[in-house]
Formats: sequence, C-alpha cells, structure tokens
Amino acid sequence: MKISQRARELTPSPTLAMDSRAKALAAEGVDIISFAVGEPDFPTPPNVVEAACTAIHAGQTKYTPASGIPQLKQAIVAATERDLGLQYDPAQVCVCNGGKHALMNIWQSLVDPGDEVIVFAPYWVSYPPQIELCGGRVVVIATGAESDFQPDLEGVRAAVTDRTIAILINSPSNPAGAIFTRATLRGLVDLAEERNLLIISDEIYKHILFDGREHLSPAQLGADAQARTILADGVAKTYAMTGWRIGWLIAPPEIAKRAGDIQSQETSNPCTPAQYAALEALSGPQESVEEMRAEFERRRDYLVPALNEIPGVTCNTPGGAFYVYPDITAHLGRKLDGEVIGGSLELCEYLLDTAHISTVPGSAFGTEGYLRISFATSMEKLQEGVRRLTEALK
Ligand SMILES: Cc1ncc(COP(=O)(O)O)c(C=O)c1O
Repeated sequence: MKISQRARELTPSPTLAMDSRAKALAAEGVDIISFAVGEPDFPTPPNVVEAACTAIHAGQTKYTPASGIPQLKQAIVAATERDLGLQYDPAQVCVCNGGKHALMNIWQSLVDPGDEVIVFAPYWVSYPPQIELCGGRVVVIATGAESDFQPDLEGVRAAVTDRTIAILINSPSNPAGAIFTRATLRGLVDLAEERNLLIISDEIYKHILFDGREHLSPAQLGADAQARTILADGVAKTYAMTGWRIGWLIAPPEIAKRAGDIQSQETSNPCTPAQYAALEALSGPQESVEEMRAEFERRRDYLVPALNEIPGVTCNTPGGAFYVYPDITAHLGRKLDGEVIGGSLELCEYLLDTAHISTVPGSAFGTEGYLRISFATSMEKLQEGVRRLTEALK
C-alpha cells in the first residue's frame, strides 16, 4: 500500500504510547499506578464548564473566524499583559487547536526544507517530529541534571549555522521541570540578536511554578527580544483543560497572519464552545490556578526526597511543571527478573510489567539514563507508586 515517506518516518508520541499500554493493562483489571500522564488530574473549573454550556445554549455552535473569536484574542492579549507585562495587538494572536497545534502552525509558517532549529534535550517528545514534518533539521543541544538542565551557551553558539532560523525554549520544561535562569535566557537572546534568529518560547507551564518563583519569558528581556520571540501557550495545563484543545501563538503580525491562513486550510477554527470556555478561563476568577499549583508543589515536596531515598536514584528538584526527571543510570546494565536492563525503555517496561507503574523513558526525550515521572496524580497514588518503585529496584 502506498504510504508517504513522511508518514513512514514519523514515530508516534511515546508518552501517549506508554499511556495507552498502561490503559490496556488497566482494562484487563491490573491495578496500574500511572506516572506517565501529562495532564492535571483536577476537573476543569466549574465556571469554565458553565461558560461552555452557556455558549452552546446561546447557539455558539457555528464556524468562527479561522484564527479565533476576537473576544478570545483580546483576552489572550490582556492575560499576557497581566502575566508578563508585555503589550501585543490582537492581530498578533492566532488561536489554535491546543498548544501542540500552535507549535505546528509556527513550524509550518517558518520552516523550509533544510532549515535548522536548535532544541534542548531533554525535549518535549513532539518537538523533533513536528519540525521534521515541515522538512526542518533539529539540532539537539544536550543538557543534564548536573547543570540543572541549563545549556552550555558556548555549545549553543557553536551549533548555530547559516541555516539556523530559531532557538526553541521551553521553561518550565517538560520533562525535567527545569527553569532557564535569567543568565541562560539573556545568553540565548543575545545570541539570537547577534545571529538574527527567532526564539520560539513554549510557555505552557508558566503558571505552575514552585518556591515563590515568578515566570521569566525571553520576550521580557527588551523590545528586540519581544519582537523576535514567538510565544506558544494554551489553557490545557493551567486550567486543567487538556481535552478542550485551545492553545495560541503570539507572533509578529506577518507570522500570526500566515499561521491563521494555514489553519484556515487545515482545520478551520478551533472548537467554538471551547473558545468560549477558554475566554472564561482567562478572564474569569483565577483562584483555581493557585489551588492546583499549590497542590502540585505539595506533591513535589513529598516526591523528590522520597525518590532520592531509593538507592541508585538521584532526582533534581523541579522548579515548575508537574514532572520529576530522576537519573536512574545506576540501574542500567543490571539483571532484573532475568532480563538485562539495557536502557531507560527496558527499565520502564520492567516497571510496568512487574511493579505495574507506568513511567516514560528518558530516551523518549532525547536523554538516556532518566525516567519521567508525572505527579499529576493523587498523593496516595504517589506514595503507593514510590513503594512499588523502591521494591522493584531493590
Ligand atoms: C511542553 C509542552 N508543550 C505543549 C504541549 C501541548 O499541550 P496542548 O496541545 O494539550 O495544549 C504540551 C503537552 O503535553 C507540553 O508538555
């Protein structure tokens, strides 16, 4: 059967694959503790659900402008000013079918075959395939726990070529919960200014920050930095709205327009009632954001020391998001249950099969020797999961 080269070369999302494997076992009646999911375990706040219902009853069930309703664009601009102190014009906003789709629209608008994008590992699983689907080349810069996942700026400089078009930043990050320091961001912005590069800043976790931190966006580092930064964001993680599929990009007007044009041919507008829900999420009461954030922090404060108690596991303290990314190198090469654990994938499989805990291997994020554990699950499940993990790694 004819299958395109593009489709053949694509690897499906490993996080979703791990999750569905765990769900299949759970459907067979196995008591699985899922540490693999990347979505808040809280319900969508009731005022947001209500807004969607009201919109549906009011007949907001038809097409809207492809790049989103004007009220939502306005609310996105207002929320960005509130959160980052930055001003944008609604014409710079394109509302998309989730943050993932916002990123895809960005690559579709920018990348020509052979163009290079600098991506830091560990990276979110969808970055390389998205860029490659557009014909781009991903230039990976590795970072590790020893530098708290900050890149070596000289290494980044050396990786820039005449084909480099952009540097991709994700702070706080998935999978490490790492936050780029002001010095790191400054260095990257300086390099972008010097080599005339764009910065793509995926800020989807910017409201989930710990220890009293405030979010710092590369766009906040001056007028030039703002002008060359494209923001990608969404309601999924902040408002427990993963299934509503609303995200957005904020870009120079020319790029925002191109992204909207592409979207008009690919999907048309994002789901209309969901746009009204996102409007309420951004402009309604914000208390639930803090409640969820505080609960994530409480779980992190339990999980990090508990993991560090397990022999051969070393875990940095994430500054944000809802993942920890422990180093499990000490367990690689061991023989467990008669099988040699060659890499993080084998370790994940072993943990799923024997301890019934689902995690995601570091190899999926471009760094071997780690596991991603999501703490978007209850404290009881975290405690039981840690007990099983400790037992399985004995
Ligand atoms: C780093 C990062 N960016 C973007 C997204 C996309 O989120 P959504 O498409 O659900 O809005 C995710 C979701 O897991 C993510 O982890």
